[in-house]
Parts: sequence; C-alpha cells; structure tokens
Amino acid sequence: MSNSSFFISELRSHFPILNQTVNDFPLVYLDNAATTQKPLAVVDAISHYYLNDNANVHRASHQLSNRATTSFEAVRTAVQQFINAKSSKEIIWTKGTTEGINLLANVLASQLQRGDQVIISAMEHHANIVPWQMLVKSHGIVLKVIPLSADCCLDLEAYQALLNEKTKLVSITHISNALGVINPVKEIIKLAHQVDAQVIIDGAQAVAHLTVDVQDLDCDYYVFSAHKLFAPTGVGVLYGKQDLLEKLPPWQGGGEMIKSVSFKETTYNELPFKFEAGTPNIAGVIGLGAALDFIKGYDHERLKAHEQSLLHFTEKALSAIPEVTLFCAGVKKSGAISFTIKGESAADIAMLLDAQGIAVRSGSHCAMPLMSELNCNGTVRVSFAIYNTLEEAQRFIEALKKLLQMLQ
Ligand code: ALA
Repeated sequence: MSNSSFFISELRSHFPILNQTVNDFPLVYLDNAATTQKPLAVVDAISHYYLNDNANVHRASHQLSNRATTSFEAVRTAVQQFINAKSSKEIIWTKGTTEGINLLANVLASQLQRGDQVIISAMEHHANIVPWQMLVKSHGIVLKVIPLSADCCLDLEAYQALLNEKTKLVSITHISNALGVINPVKEIIKLAHQVDAQVIIDGAQAVAHLTVDVQDLDCDYYVFSAHKLFAPTGVGVLYGKQDLLEKLPPWQGGGEMIKSVSFKETTYNELPFKFEAGTPNIAGVIGLGAALDFIKGYDHERLKAHEQSLLHFTEKALSAIPEVTLFCAGVKKSGAISFTIKGESAADIAMLLDAQGIAVRSGSHCAMPLMSELNCNGTVRVSFAIYNTLEEAQRFIEALKKLLQMLQ
C-alpha cells in the first residue's frame, strides 16, 4: 500500500458508515456537499456529553452545568482559531448557514433604507437569495445579481459596474454548492469595501475544503454549517467583526440574550450571547468541537491535495465521455463537479448510479436561478470529502459508463 493510500485508509477507518453495501455494491458516498459523514470521535463526544455531562449551559452553578458550559465554550474558542477570528465574541452559534444568513438579513435591515442596494451572485443557494428578496418586499431594498461570465466564473467587470454609493451589502458564496467553483471572494470583498459596503460570505461549502482565514479575507461576516464539516446537523456558525456585531440589534428575544428584564425595560447581553436566545444545541456544538479536533489531527495541505487529485481525475475522466456535458470545466473548483447527460434526466442518472451503490445528488441543488442561467433543469453533482478514494472515483466513472451503455 502506498503512503498516500495508507493515509486515506487510516482516515477512512474513523467513518464506519462508509463500510457498508448498498444495493449489493460497496457504498461510494459522493454526496458530501449535501452533508458529510461523521467520524466516531464526533459520535463518541455526543454520547459522552449525554451520558455524563448533560445540563444546560450558562445557567446553573452545579457541576454538570459547569462541565457542559466549559466544553461548550471551549468549542467557541476552537472555532475562533479554526477561522482565525480575532475574538471568541465574534463567534455566534446558529442552526446552520441558512439561519446565519436569515439572522443577518433581519438585523442588518435596521441599517438599510428604501433604495439601498444588496448584491448577490448568480451562483447563490436559495438561502442567500430568498432572505434578501424578503427585504425587497418589507424594506424596499434593491437586489442586484452578479451574472456569470462566458467562462463560468462570476463576471467581476459586471460586479464593479453594479457597485456604487447605494450598495450597502454584498453577500456571496465562497464555493458554489452546485458547481464547486471557487469564487475570488478576497477581491470581491476589497471592491465592496471601496464603496463602504459590508460583505457576507456564505462558507457552507468552503469550510471543509479550503483554509478559511476571516482576517485575511477581511470579510465582515462569514457563515457556515457544522454538518458539512464532519459535525452534526443543526449547528452553524456566524462570524462577524466585533465592532459591527456590537452595533446590530439582537434578533430573537428570550433567555440568554438579556442582561436584565423588567416590564419597563430590558437590557441586552454582551456578545456573543446577544444573538443566542434560548437553549442552544449543546450536544451539536460539542460534536463540532470533536470534528475540529479530528481534522486537526491530519495535515490540512495533504488533505486538500488528496481532494484535488480526486477532483482532477474525475473531471478529466468525465470530459472524455462524449455524452457528458460538464459545467465550468477547467475552472478552479473544490469539492464538487456538476454535469448532465445528453437526453437523460439528472434524476434518472442519479437513480441508476444508486442502483450500483453510488450516492450522488441530482436536481437544482437549491440553486434554481443558477440552473436557469445554465439553461438546464438540473445537474448530477458528484461531491468529494477527505475520506473518498481514487478507487471510488474510478468506480463512479465505470458505473456511469456502464449505465450509459445500458441506456443506448
Ligand atoms: N445545500 C446542500 C446541498 O448543496 C443541501 O446539497
């Protein structure tokens, strides 16, 4: 066994779910952009918490609550370090990326006036479209969209032409969930700051594939979901620059987000608690901590290189199949590849792959406007994670060729 396959087979052994058959074939899980599998360490951390430390956080002086609070807050610090935020006060727990963007849209609305402009892009997930459309209705903001260029990237010239003194916010995905394309967010942020607009980055797809440094990016807000990073569903992170978060009103009201309450007046808690009303997903946060520890145990550059090699192999092999139309071929990507098959529906292709034990996603990938731009109803999306192997990528290509023969 080569050094590299030993490395991946050791890593893979932490994900027992991968070791099963589906429709009598060994499972090949290539739907990681929808959600990643969880290593044993994450499952163990959650059971350990429920079996030993289960109590509410920040609310009691008893031992269990102290233990739960200590573990919970340690993860906030771990996340701060993971994305290189300046302070743990800048890390707000949410349910996921969607809630992070909705929270921001709701609280930033207080700073927006009728006619103010918010810019998104043609590559956005519905979660980064619909909350802004709601503000169009409720607050009269104007929503502008950066189109795709002929080479399947965001058209930066068109973006520059959209930016003006009315632009207050730019909200862009770091990596397209549907196409895997990596957007030049650092440049997008720099240009937005030249007109004093704030920038939100949707990092749902990026956190598991790129090294994210929010200070280097200089983004104002960065949101992501834990479940795409080997951690449980139902937990997400909203990063915001402290001075900006301080100026925003709270979102939901309730326990935890207050300093004092009377029927005359309520004062709000300090960051990050001001945005964390109600009992949080304690077990989920602890699971995220275990996932971060797990990832830290491996050489990040090596993991990224491994994923890139899977992506390059698959893209090259797909482009050699005449029936395949690849989207954004040759464009810098991470994590995912999208394609269609001439004369076949994406859903049928995904079903026929599943019949051979291969899990992929088909459809619009919650990006219907992008599908319209691409003139298609939906694509087949293959998405990789660190535990996928070259052999699995080869099996996917062979299975696709087999089903194409069958369909002839
Ligand atoms: N947003 C997730 C995906 O891209 C669910 O599949």
